[in-house]
Amino acid sequence: MTEAFPIIAPSILSANFAYLGREVEDVVRGGADWIHFDVMDNHYVPNLTVGPLVCEALRAVTKAPIDVHLMVEPVDSLVPMFAKAGADIITFHCEASRHIDRTLSLIRDLGMKAGLVFNPATPLEYLDYVLDKIDLILLMSVNPGFGGQSFIASTFDKIARARAKLDDYEKQTGRHVLIEVDGGIKPANIADVSRAGAEAFVAGSAIFGKKDAALYAEVISDMKNKALASRQA
Ligand code: DX5
Ligand code: ZN
Repeated sequence: MTEAFPIIAPSILSANFAYLGREVEDVVRGGADWIHFDVMDNHYVPNLTVGPLVCEALRAVTKAPIDVHLMVEPVDSLVPMFAKAGADIITFHCEASRHIDRTLSLIRDLGMKAGLVFNPATPLEYLDYVLDKIDLILLMSVNPGFGGQSFIASTFDKIARARAKLDDYEKQTGRHVLIEVDGGIKPANIADVSRAGAEAFVAGSAIFGKKDAALYAEVISDMKNKALASRQA
């Protein structure tokens, strides 16, 4: 999966749900590349958010890719529902699917990009036998479930190790697998996250935490500039 660097994916978890459509339009106008859509089931994670109906409603207000992050268990039955609701990307947690290879195929067979999500303590070895079915990986830099948590520093090393593994794979196959990072990303640390090898950056509270929607564009472009500068230095 090759996209223009950097990709900023605002997480709607921190948006104002009373005006969700408008919030999405505001961040897209402000330069957001993807809409990060956090699905929580109060089972795999201790929180409860939104499902395919809300995805379908947002599909009608934006052309931006909808990046569905499934924090649910089991996974498979929701995949066709999100395909129907207009999702572009589906990522799911390694531990939440009984049959990872099958879930990846299911996502791709329905025409979407597929990705595996790694919690802070989940080993990268899950990638070893399924790389050919993966378009992106999502590395969690917080434990999933809530917005507004602090970035876990051991993620830097994990991003770098994932980058090396994926670069190796690209040399052998010509396929680029994208690295997305999620949790605690702010203007103050995005350069370090980018330098470690990430290409897509999820940000919830850093963007939607701004008091005024007029400030979304400012923080998105600040984050993009810092990510770009980190790669030029
Ligand atoms: C956490 C979610 C994240 C979260 C990020 O479980 O997957 O996408 O919304 O929020 P911030 O950027 O505030 O850490
Ligand atoms: Zn997320």
